[in-house]
Amino acid sequence: MTSALLEALPLPIVGAPMAGGPTTPALAAAVSEAGGLGFLGAGYKTVAALREDIAATRALTDRPIGVNAFALLGAAPGDAEAIAAYAARLAGEAARAGVELGEPRFEDDHLAAKMEALIADPVAVVSFTFGLPPRDAVERLHAAGAEVWITVTSPTEARAAAVLSPDALIVQGLEAGGHRGVFVDDESASDLTLLAALQLIGAAVDLPLVATGGLTTGAAIGAALVAGAAAAQVGSAYLRTPEAGTSEAQRAATATNAPTALTRAFTGRTARGIVNRLLTEQSAAAPRAYPEIHHLTGPLRAHGRAAGDADLINLWAGQVHALAPELPAGELTRQLVANARAAVAAARARLG
Ligand SMILES: Cc1cc2nc3c(=O)[nH]c(=O)nc-3n(C[C@H](O)[C@H](O)[C@H](O)COP(=O)(O)O)c2cc1C
Repeated sequence: MTSALLEALPLPIVGAPMAGGPTTPALAAAVSEAGGLGFLGAGYKTVAALREDIAATRALTDRPIGVNAFALLGAAPGDAEAIAAYAARLAGEAARAGVELGEPRFEDDHLAAKMEALIADPVAVVSFTFGLPPRDAVERLHAAGAEVWITVTSPTEARAAAVLSPDALIVQGLEAGGHRGVFVDDESASDLTLLAALQLIGAAVDLPLVATGGLTTGAAIGAALVAGAAAAQVGSAYLRTPEAGTSEAQRAATATNAPTALTRAFTGRTARGIVNRLLTEQSAAAPRAYPEIHHLTGPLRAHGRAAGDADLINLWAGQVHALAPELPAGELTRQLVANARAAVAAARARLG
């Protein structure tokens, strides 16, 4: 099985969709212009805002771009009592910040309306995370000329995704920054790191694989390609680029050696972020309730970003964030590939 888009890509780099601020039309366009594939994040956006982002990106580049959507098909609301108890825990934080906590709403991120917009006016590829997209959306996106990629974290998820005949799978390792792409966010979720996932998923399905998680240097990207990936989806490495919409507090935290951890404290869904006070104090108590907790903590996080208080922000980042350079995104894209070539050449020489 092949992906025409991946085969035609000049550089095997996909700019990871980073919803919630870091991804901007300028970042996506810069990655595509450099020869990689820039992505927009549809997550958290209204359909109108998504359309505006696509138009703004197209104004900056004629190259292919992708859009990522959250597939919360089959997700169920969280436990109302657990959500209320967590809201009570956060009341002191909200009072100190001088904000009201948000309404813990359950919703599906306007998936159906976003699909209609992307079918009517397709981009080169639509990728999904959090679960399987609806079968009719896959068929209609294909008919409209878009590729469909699905994020997976285990061979079981990969086999389930393969049934929908996607053009590629995005294999996300545990190292990755941001939300895990797991279909079910509970104790049964995969704990495979990227190299383990690539080997096992490569043996389980016959689909092109896009590797993602902890790929912040050219050498690591080379390793993922050697392990069978067709391309690398790079997130944290772009957080400090001038084109990214990363908040100042998050830029500063990304540049440090601070450790990361998995947490549901900010959104009710497991994600990897740089350890800060809210993560440390609330992770153990945070319920599994996405997106209710995302809405509940929204005003606190917004206050943190505006006030420059990094302890209140979801500082999403992968395990290798400390090596993210402060470089223009196009230059970084080209540099990652040049460094991958050098690392693979050195490995070849050692292999004889
Ligand atoms: C700030 C941030 C936001 C993210 N948002 C999304 C998203 O909206 N959709 C998605 O599929 N993945 C999202 N991810 C995960 C990335 O697609 C990718 O898997 C991850 O960044 C790879 O790990 P790395 O950050 O170590 O490169 C996000 C990651 C970060 C760091």
